[in-house]
Amino acid sequence: MGMIGGGKNAFIGAVHRIAANMDGLIELVCCALSTNPDVARDSGGSLFLPENRIYLSYEEMLEAESRLPVHERMDFVTIVTPNFAHFAPAMMALDKGFHVVIEKPMTLSFEEAVQLRQKVTETGLQLMLTHTYSGYPMVKEARRMIKDRKLGEVRKVIVEYPQGWMAKLEYKGGNPQAVWRTDPTRSGKSGCMADIGTHAAHLAEYVSGLKITELCAQLSTMTSGNALDDDGNVLLRFDNGATGVLMASQMAAGEENALRIRVYGQKGGIEWFQHEPNSLLVKWVDDFMQTMRAGTRYTDLLSEDALANCRTPGGHPEGYLEAFGNLYRNFAQTLATKIKGGAPSPYMLDFPSIDDGVRGMAFIDHVVANNASAEKWTKFTY
Ligand SMILES: NC(=O)c1ccc[n+]([C@@H]2O[C@H](COP(=O)([O-])OP(=O)(O)OC[C@H]3O[C@@H](n4cnc5c(N)ncnc54)[C@H](O)[C@@H]3O)[C@@H](O)[C@H]2O)c1
Repeated sequence: MGMIGGGKNAFIGAVHRIAANMDGLIELVCCALSTNPDVARDSGGSLFLPENRIYLSYEEMLEAESRLPVHERMDFVTIVTPNFAHFAPAMMALDKGFHVVIEKPMTLSFEEAVQLRQKVTETGLQLMLTHTYSGYPMVKEARRMIKDRKLGEVRKVIVEYPQGWMAKLEYKGGNPQAVWRTDPTRSGKSGCMADIGTHAAHLAEYVSGLKITELCAQLSTMTSGNALDDDGNVLLRFDNGATGVLMASQMAAGEENALRIRVYGQKGGIEWFQHEPNSLLVKWVDDFMQTMRAGTRYTDLLSEDALANCRTPGGHPEGYLEAFGNLYRNFAQTLATKIKGGAPSPYMLDFPSIDDGVRGMAFIDHVVANNASAEKWTKFTY
């Protein structure tokens, strides 16, 4: 693995490194961690990487790595830069023959996303998009229950992602993560809806197995001075006629990462909340509510989908890092299988892909356009 972005003081790069390391399948061998040469050197050095593989730009890294013998060079690159700096390194990496892991939202614009998909198709290389929340075992359990129609036909999906970290005005200037997220040239045409609304939309479709077909959106900018939305509500219609509500906010003062999804079918509903990720509430129309728990000890009670993503017997806290690790494990197994000329299993391929990335960018475009239009409901045509 090589890494672009994620130097000292960056947020998500360090999380990726922990997650990639978790199963002993992936080793970080090179990096271009910052555009500032001192920070790039210092950050790479603090990870004990050899000096000749601490690069000062992603161009230099991709060029130099592609000249190394196949067994020495990195197999894939992880891109953890702000949104505006996803597309160019991803295109160059694919051109040089490297598989790619990329953060969401996948690109700055929908047009870039479509071009990237074209490149992935042409090269036949693998791209993983890190919608982290799809890696949780009880999210997999909920998805499996719905797929097996244990809840009957799905009628309603409610997904909410409130955060409060941008509620304080003074965060704007001092917080490097807030600075680029509120700048359209670096974040794209949306702020909050692109940053966390896309996670919520992906989770809603991943868990329910449905596709959003129509939406009615309202975006707000609560903190004066922010150029982009920092709060949004979207009414949804799905391809089976189910209705839904998606809420994303970075103005919900005091909230951490309170992602919650509820899906209701004819026979019952499920509720999963990220702050209690090892529990899945199952509510029955004709019975008491159940609490299902994650853990390898529940071999007779959980689906294979959930068990494949549990790491400890139960009760030992597992969470965000492990969910991230589950994505990386599947990706590593997929690459290893492909490199040996084999066909990855559906379990290995269970990670968000280029198509999810393009869909996320289409979601942003449709929400922003609907918010600006006089129409109440508009089709989500992608
Ligand atoms: N999956 C998730 O749960 C999750 C969580 C947070 C952030 N993200 C996404 O991850 C990305 C990064 O977010 P962050 O909060 O870590 O940002 P950040 O500002 O903390 O870090 C970005 C890093 O990229 C570096 N950088 C910028 N341009 C570069 C370039 N051309 N070459 C090399 N390095 C460069 C910066 O110096 C910095 O080290 C964003 O796209 C964001 O949406 C995803």
